[in-house]
Order: sequence, then C-alpha cells, then structure tokens
Amino acid sequence: MNTPDLKEARRRTNNKVSIKENEYKVTDKQRKIGLNKKYYIKTYGCQMNEHDSENISAILNDMNFTKTESLEDADLIILNTCAIRENAHNKVFGLLGRIKHLRQTKNIMVGFGGCMAQEEVIVEEITNKYKWIDFVFGTHNIVNLPNVIEKAYDNKKQEVEVFSCEGDVIENIPVKRDSKYKAWVNIMYGCDKFCTYCIVPYTRGKQRSRLPEYIINEVKDLIKDGYQEVTLLGQNVNAYGKDLGINYTMANLLEDVAKTGINRIRFVTSHPWDFNDDMIDIISKYDNIMPYIHLPIQSGSSKILKLMGRRYTKEEYLNLFKKLKEKIPNVSITTDIIVGFPGETEEDFQDTLDVVDACKYDSAFTFIFSPRVGTPASKMEDNVSLEEKESRLQRLNQLINKYSKENNDKYLNKVVPVLLEDYSSKKKDCLKGYTDTMKLVNVKADDIYLGKIVNVKITSVKTWSMDGEIVK
Ligand code: 5AD
Ligand code: SF4
Repeated sequence: MNTPDLKEARRRTNNKVSIKENEYKVTDKQRKIGLNKKYYIKTYGCQMNEHDSENISAILNDMNFTKTESLEDADLIILNTCAIRENAHNKVFGLLGRIKHLRQTKNIMVGFGGCMAQEEVIVEEITNKYKWIDFVFGTHNIVNLPNVIEKAYDNKKQEVEVFSCEGDVIENIPVKRDSKYKAWVNIMYGCDKFCTYCIVPYTRGKQRSRLPEYIINEVKDLIKDGYQEVTLLGQNVNAYGKDLGINYTMANLLEDVAKTGINRIRFVTSHPWDFNDDMIDIISKYDNIMPYIHLPIQSGSSKILKLMGRRYTKEEYLNLFKKLKEKIPNVSITTDIIVGFPGETEEDFQDTLDVVDACKYDSAFTFIFSPRVGTPASKMEDNVSLEEKESRLQRLNQLINKYSKENNDKYLNKVVPVLLEDYSSKKKDCLKGYTDTMKLVNVKADDIYLGKIVNVKITSVKTWSMDGEIVK
C-alpha cells in the first residue's frame, strides 16, 4: 500500500526528471481481465483530468474492457476526481452513495483516482469508511493501472497505490480521445507556483515539461488523423520549458506547433507572471493560433494578490491585459476570480469589480474561496462571513454576465469561423461548435459538416451562447 503525504508532495525531490518511453506495459493476463466486461468512467474537474480520463480509457481498452455510458450497466466503475474546491469533494461523495448501493447488489469493481486520491485526509477516509472501494490510484500512478486492477481482481482486498512525489515524464501511455476533431495535448505536468490557496502543486507535483519533439510529433500525427484543433495543456503553460534547461520557451513551442500547419491551436492555462512579449508576438503572427486567452486574475486587489502569492499587482495585470488587446486583433480574454479570500475587505472586493469594469471580460469562472487542507491559505484567518462571500459572488457574477452579453452582442450579424464538433444538446437539427474566439454557437446544419470549420453568420445572441447559420 502506498498512501499519500502532502508534506512529502510539497518537496521537490525528483531533481532529474527523465523521459520514459517504455514504462507503460500490459501483460497477456491483464489483456484478458476486461473480456466481456464494461467500464464506466466519471470525470470531475479541469481539462487535465479530462485528458487523464482519455488515457485511462485507452488503458482499459488495452485490457479489453468496453465502454458504457450507464453506471448501472458497468462491471468496473472509475471515478477520476478533482480536489480544487470543497464542492468538487461533495459531488464525488454524493455519487459514491449511489455506487455503494450497486456494489452491494452486484459483482462490480470500483476504482477511485485523480486529485482527491492524492490527499491524505481523503485516502484515510476511504481506507476507514469506504472499505468497499476496490482500488485507489493517484495522478502519478495512471501508468501502473493494469497492475493495480489486476491486484484488485486477484486479491479481493482494497488496493491503494498513490505516490506522493511525481514520477518522470512518460511518453508511451495510450490515449482514446473523446473527439475526432479536437485534441488535448499535454505539454507539461505539475506546477511550481504554489499560489497559497491552491492544492494543485501538491496533487500534481513538480513542473515537468515534455520535450518539444514529442509534442510536435503528437500534433503531426493528429493532423494525419484528421484533427482540426489542438489545445496545449498545462497548469501554467507560460512556464513551459523552464525546467528543461535547453533554452526553449513557450513562444518557441507555439511557433513550432503553428508551423505544423494544424488549423487551430489553443493553450490553457496562462499565468500572467510568465506571459512575455515573445509569446504575444508569436500569437499575433500566426493565424492558426486562436485569438483567445484564458488569463486568471484571481483578485483585483494587490494586497490580496500578494497574500495569494500570485507575483503580480493589479497594475501589472492591467498592463499585460492592455498589451494583449492592442497586439492581438480581435482577441477574447476570459478569467478566473476567487472571492472571499482571507482578509478580503469590501474595498479589496471593489478593486476586483474595478478590474472587471476595466477589462470587460468575455467571460469568467468565479469561485468562493475554499480552504484546502495543507495549503498556506487554509491556515490564514478567515474573517469574511459566508453570507458576505455569497453576496460578493452574486454581485460579481452580475457584472461578469453583463459584459459577456455586451461582448457577444457585437457578434450579431457578423460572419465568424466555427469548428462544428458535435450535435447541439440544446437545439434540434443543429450542430454546435466554437468560434476562433471560443464562443459557443448552435448552427442549423446537416451532419456532413461535422468536423469542418465553416463560416457562420450569427443570427441571435445570448449571454452564454449564440445561434447562427452557415454562409455558403
Ligand atoms: N478556492 C477557490 N477557488 C480556487 N481555485 C483554485 N483553488 C481554489 C480554492 N482553494 C480556482 C482558481 C483557479 C481555478 C482553476 O480554480 O481561480 O484558477
Ligand atoms: Fe494553482 Fe497557481 Fe499553479 Fe494555477 S498557477 S495550478 S492557481 S498554484
């Protein structure tokens, strides 16, 4: 049994990260485990987790499991969890209630993985109170899933395999992508920023960049397979390459990916601190790098930003924002904001509203501060009442929504490029897709247009989405 330890996870011990091309293996015995069995996977959290689930699915495929969309139908249920806020925890424990019932009535196997599995409080709770969960695996243990599952089936006792410290960069984990048209591509793992509220540097470990050649080759293979769009993924993509020691930066990578000729390139998430002029120049130079940037500010108060350990002031953020708007034509910018951080006064919150008024974001994800065990902010005195936090969130959301609608209104009657990626879940006889600027559009179109980038005239506009029709 390997259980997690957040103190251990904080240390950055793996000084020499190596690239491993043969780490992932499946034995003949393991290939037979999934025969005539179905798996169901539920993913919580960020794009990184979504992409991890694409790896997990491919591994289960190798073991000959087939996928089902129904929890009740599954022989193996996997939860890929998120630890970023308390409400993510609550959702997971809610679903576990339903699964427990199934586990008592049928012969099924249940696996618990992802960021929550990296937290010692959670793993303690599972080993004490959720003994019926068959196996627990951490974010650094996905490569070893065939062995963990084999042991769980053979030994019939709870298997816990969670390494606290990150491993190496593993280059041969298979992937079964959810989309045929757009793909996530990891460019780095982990994060070394240690913003004081954030659990990610503990659950995902030290920053490890992939070597450029592996990334470029992955993108070239995706082009051959007909993919239109890649999203380069990392917790803090602007810091890409800094750990490699080869004098190769995010700007270099963006340029090399742009030169592959793939139609659309996106990247998330950017940290304002590492966003330099070279990157801005490359984004504005290449048409296939989309004019869309997710640039979390977290707070508009320089005092709170300091307490958060964000390494920029309100003024520095605004300068960067202005530069992006000036240099990248038609760029849309979105953000993340936390309200109710310890010590946030009404005046600090007003600073946040002022920044929103200045930036008029295209949209934003907004959150109430959630103390995460083991992070510095969880030990700071929390002097804002829940009522006040909720009221701030509501006031903030009203302002954010106002600007989302105003920004969207500018699209009315304009013709914009949209990659049609799926059937619309909201509108009959429609496909859905995103503009270059990441606006969701429902388009009246036949499914022969799936996977195509088409010109769409916007016919109506709402706060969260738009409707349009193809222009021939
Ligand atoms: N409480 C609330 N929000 C958080 N985020 C990260 N950690 C916390 C926390 N402890 C938010 C940040 C981040 C986004 C992914 O989640 O805004 O950018
Ligand atoms: Fe968390 Fe900050 Fe790293 Fe983002 S940059 S993952 S908020 S520590």
